[in-house]
Amino acid sequence: MRKKIAAGNWKMNTTPAQGTELAAAIASRRNEAGNDVDFIICPPFTHLTEVIRATRGKGVAVGAQNCAAEPKGAYTGEVSAEMLASIGVDYVILGHSERRQYYGETSETLNRKLEMAYANNLTPIYCVGEKLSEREAGKHFDVVKAQITEVIYNLSADKLARLVIAYEPVWAIGTGKTATSAQAQEIHAFIRKVLAEKFGDTADTVPILYGGSVNPKNAAELFGMPDVDGGLVGGASLEAESFIQIGKSFR
Ligand code: 13P
Repeated sequence: MRKKIAAGNWKMNTTPAQGTELAAAIASRRNEAGNDVDFIICPPFTHLTEVIRATRGKGVAVGAQNCAAEPKGAYTGEVSAEMLASIGVDYVILGHSERRQYYGETSETLNRKLEMAYANNLTPIYCVGEKLSEREAGKHFDVVKAQITEVIYNLSADKLARLVIAYEPVWAIGTGKTATSAQAQEIHAFIRKVLAEKFGDTADTVPILYGGSVNPKNAAELFGMPDVDGGLVGGASLEAESFIQIGKSFR
């Protein structure tokens, strides 16, 4: 049995006060979804300490949206995995398409970021996904396979057992255009097959989340697919009501 996960990526939204209020609202209602659903929220760095305080012991884990590729030193503006772990962060989103696109993150950088995350006991939520032009050219399987083999194939099997993958087609992020459940299932099963080619049965234990315009209306159909283990939710995670409804969308 794989974990069922409702993860919220707040991106660069909310002030710390708003974020802490949102986190508290989510924590107070998360039991509506039952204990077999894991809730994770990923606020901006500035909110982490307060959000961790507001959710502690309430069944909501906290993740960061990025970490540095280096352990420490003269890297102005960066935040290390050790810093995040030391304040009680459990997860870190790595390789989000916005970071690949706007901040030039490559497989080379991401290999080092994953290493930092594991060295500090953070669970990476590693994002993959193709752009619209790549899907239209029929290249989406190749693109996603490369994003897996160039980074995840470098992990040991025990690290794979502590990994979450998020498939987020770039054309579905923030556009209101969701992948169909059949499209999501097709590529999630493909990702699992690519993982199994290297890691065997351990591939069956890796949660693969779908991300891209997930909302309370489409979540149940997406999460009903056999290889869709939950969602990485942007916009709809910024309100407790819609995020909780998404968390309640598992069968
Ligand atoms: P939206 O849910 O706003 O489309 O964002 C998805 C996403 O990028 C989550 O990481």
